[in-house]
Amino acid sequence: MARPALLDRLVPVPPAAVRRLAIAAVVAQAGIAVTGSIVRVTGSGLGCPTWPQCSPGSLVPTPHPEVAALHQWVEFGNRLLTFAVVAITGLCFLAALGCYRSGHDASPPHSVRGGRPAPDHRRPRRSRLVRLALVQPLGVIAQAVIGGFTVLLGLAWWSVSVHFLVSMALVWLAVVLVSAVDEGDGPPRPVVPNAVRALAGTATAVLGALLLAGTFVTAAGPHSGDTDTPRLAAGVPAMAQLHADLLFGYLGLLVGLGFALCAVAAPAGLLRRYAMLVAAALLQGVVGGVQYALGVPEALASLHVLGAALVTVAAAAVWTGTATRGPVAAPPTPPRPRDATPAEPPAPSPDAADRPALAERS
Ligand code: HEM
Repeated sequence: MARPALLDRLVPVPPAAVRRLAIAAVVAQAGIAVTGSIVRVTGSGLGCPTWPQCSPGSLVPTPHPEVAALHQWVEFGNRLLTFAVVAITGLCFLAALGCYRSGHDASPPHSVRGGRPAPDHRRPRRSRLVRLALVQPLGVIAQAVIGGFTVLLGLAWWSVSVHFLVSMALVWLAVVLVSAVDEGDGPPRPVVPNAVRALAGTATAVLGALLLAGTFVTAAGPHSGDTDTPRLAAGVPAMAQLHADLLFGYLGLLVGLGFALCAVAAPAGLLRRYAMLVAAALLQGVVGGVQYALGVPEALASLHVLGAALVTVAAAAVWTGTATRGPVAAPPTPPRPRDATPAEPPAPSPDAADRPALAERS
């Protein structure tokens, strides 16, 4: 199928550069969730009371008798950060489009016709990588719209909850993107038995419920983003209890997963990711307990959001580590002269080498 000429003119991008940009996307997606929480805990959620304008008739903050300048600039600053996240994730998408396959000739096409480089058909597209990379900027744009509705709805607690959970989904997908850089496009092949993968999947589902319950605690708690926002009537103690119960369930599943991973002699890389997940979840539990006991001070509430993002990153890393799609396939090589030295096969990426599929290990 013919490809648009514009895509063929993209500079070839090495996988290492895409990986760096994908890691930047993880940081940016988690970072904007944390700065969003700063908007909330400083009570600046309606610092810009309209959307997409900051105040009626102005895109930027203007002196307003009813809105403190600090609240305006905190909320407006967070809106500006959206552009930075779009830029990072957009660049990552462009890099994924230009990414060449491992072991492939990275030099730009030599033949030039009429001042334009000839289409480089030697550079097959990495379709899964491109799809995952595209989700990132699209997700940020969707979040800008959800954030806008959140403002227009007067920070209704359920809209804040949706806004936060979509952020965590984007963080998760950004981690999957990082892992996709070194993986092929094939179907996932488990590196641990299916039952162990199912356990990791169950733990992930419980983590989702834990995050959701966390937003219920916030919805009942003092940090709505604006003093006049109605709170969830269920009350903080009941919601915090639900949140903590889910945490205990999650930790129990992680203990089971740890035994299972050791029993099946899981690859060392997967065990390292698992250890980081346990450490992050325990630390987050401690931060949560302390902030509850201290009446949810602002700084700890934002630290807790950072912790939630780190637990999400670690859980996504464990999940992606339970399967492999094999190394990136080298593209078909053009026929070469008979006396030419045969090309070296591409070296498998360190990450893929660490995760042989189950069938290959036995
Ligand atoms: C792995 C463990 C935990 C995770 C992943 C987690 C996650 C979350 C999330 C996602 C939120 C909502 C943040 C927001 O809406 O901006 C939240 C809020 C909250 N969590 Fe946790 N949490 C954990 C453990 C705990 C524990 C053990 C407690 C103690 C009871 C706790 C207490 C709270 C409180 C009080 C809030 C409301 C903070 C506010 O009003 O801003 N968390 N948590």
